[in-house]
Amino acid sequence: MMMMKGYLNLILTMGRAPVYNQRSLVFGIILASVFWVAVVVVGPWLKGWEVTPWPAASSLCKTSSQAARRATSSRTTEVVAANTEQRATEQVRVLLLAVQGRTGSSFVGELLGTNEDVFYLFEPGLSLQAGFQDNHTPGGFEVLINIYASFLNDLFRCDFSTLDMYLRYLSKQDAQGLSHKAPRLSAECDRRYASGRCNVTQDLAEEICRASKYIVVKSVRMPDINLLLPMVEDSRIKLKVIHLVRDPRPMVASNVYAFGLWFNESYARTHRSRNDTLLSGATLGMLGIYCRYNVYNFELGMRKPSLRDRYAFLRYEDAARNPSWAAGRLHSFLGADLVPESVSKWVVANTKSRQSGIYSTARRSNEEYRAWRQTIPYEDAKAIAELGKCTQMMTLMGYRLLEDEGHLRNMSRSLLADIPAAATQHDWPQWSE
Ligand SMILES: *[C@@H]1O[C@H](CO)[C@@H](O)[C@H](O)[C@H]1NC(C)=O
Ligand SMILES: *[C@@H]1O[C@H](CO)[C@@H](O)[C@H](O)[C@H]1NC(C)=O
Ligand SMILES: *[C@@H]1O[C@H](CO)[C@@H](O)[C@H](O)[C@H]1NC(C)=O
Ligand SMILES: *[C@@H]1O[C@H](CO)[C@@H](O)[C@H](O)[C@H]1NC(C)=O
Repeated sequence: MMMMKGYLNLILTMGRAPVYNQRSLVFGIILASVFWVAVVVVGPWLKGWEVTPWPAASSLCKTSSQAARRATSSRTTEVVAANTEQRATEQVRVLLLAVQGRTGSSFVGELLGTNEDVFYLFEPGLSLQAGFQDNHTPGGFEVLINIYASFLNDLFRCDFSTLDMYLRYLSKQDAQGLSHKAPRLSAECDRRYASGRCNVTQDLAEEICRASKYIVVKSVRMPDINLLLPMVEDSRIKLKVIHLVRDPRPMVASNVYAFGLWFNESYARTHRSRNDTLLSGATLGMLGIYCRYNVYNFELGMRKPSLRDRYAFLRYEDAARNPSWAAGRLHSFLGADLVPESVSKWVVANTKSRQSGIYSTARRSNEEYRAWRQTIPYEDAKAIAELGKCTQMMTLMGYRLLEDEGHLRNMSRSLLADIPAAATQHDWPQWSE
């Protein structure tokens, strides 16, 4: 209950002072509980998230094998060290923030991670996952999210001395897992030990981290930009934030229908004829929270002076339908002059379709991002757009409301309006079809 209360407080105190009466408080508690169960209990279970224990005090001591590894890599370390201090002040640190999973954050993250100058880390918060299920953590979610903020603070300064749990988590990955979760570490292990799998020591992680021009962390576990402001304003970090959003309507198409969560097919068969949404209050509540965080983050990003030039707004749909445009914009946000060839190649491989013969293996992002329009029940799409916070989010971010069912199904009628001018103020020109 502590956990739920903590999470509820977080949701309720987000943004402007919330106005709520007892009924909406009870409703809120129910929504937050269901959301919590979905995200914290069902989510990890569905996705097979790995559970790692909190680090024991003894594990913080260096092992002799680590000392040995340090000796062999000391020559490289010296060379790197000369440039390290200089680098640290020039290094660009970026958090790719998405409020929830399945918003295309893996796609955009991979696009950046393919750049060999980028020390890309995929969801390092997964290593803290056990904490989310640990009933003994006083304060629950609220405490954990602050632990995560301090974890990110160390990470962005390439200080792995307290991130033992994360190092062990990375070391447990097989070659494929490591190349997905930390491609630069995986490449270095390949080079040094002829194996994509290796013990990721503090020395190795710090060395590769410090030698990188850019540090990019992709995370869906830090939904609130407010908690990042200390890092944005810290002159040693100067964190930049990419705020990635996706239309809330496909969020339900992928989350709810794909996982079969909250969606009762037998109920659907008998009740669909009522022309009413079958999405449960819990699902709609979860989407309301998703939209609320996005609206709040967007407004903060537009208005907070310290986020000026440090905040970029990106719609997944724009990145998916034109990844080479997105690659260019993201690299210019990073401060890179050019999009490297490795990224351009990745873009080609992920967008070329039918003719090239890789139709079935490549993701064809520019076609798939809107496939949901053929499958989502019209009533559900309408109900989502009618949620107060979601109407606000969609209007603010240029997602069109539906005129009729034909609008939803007819692919030549776009659901994307231009991004409102306010969102483009930070040297972030829009791209249109
Ligand atoms: C990683 O470390 C463990 C424990 O220290 C050791 O048993 C194992 O052999 C090491 N593996 C590699 C690839 O170095
Ligand atoms: C689905 O709905 C039917 C009919 O309302 C009900 O009998 C059944 O228990 C429901 N199943 C679940 C898993 O909620
Ligand atoms: C549901 O809506 C469609 C068109 O919007 C209409 O043709 C149909 O009669 C409605 N069904 C019910 C049961 O109201
Ligand atoms: C789809 O929309 C386009 C543009 O509005 C229109 O010309 C076309 O007739 C529509 N197709 C169908 C099948 O309704």
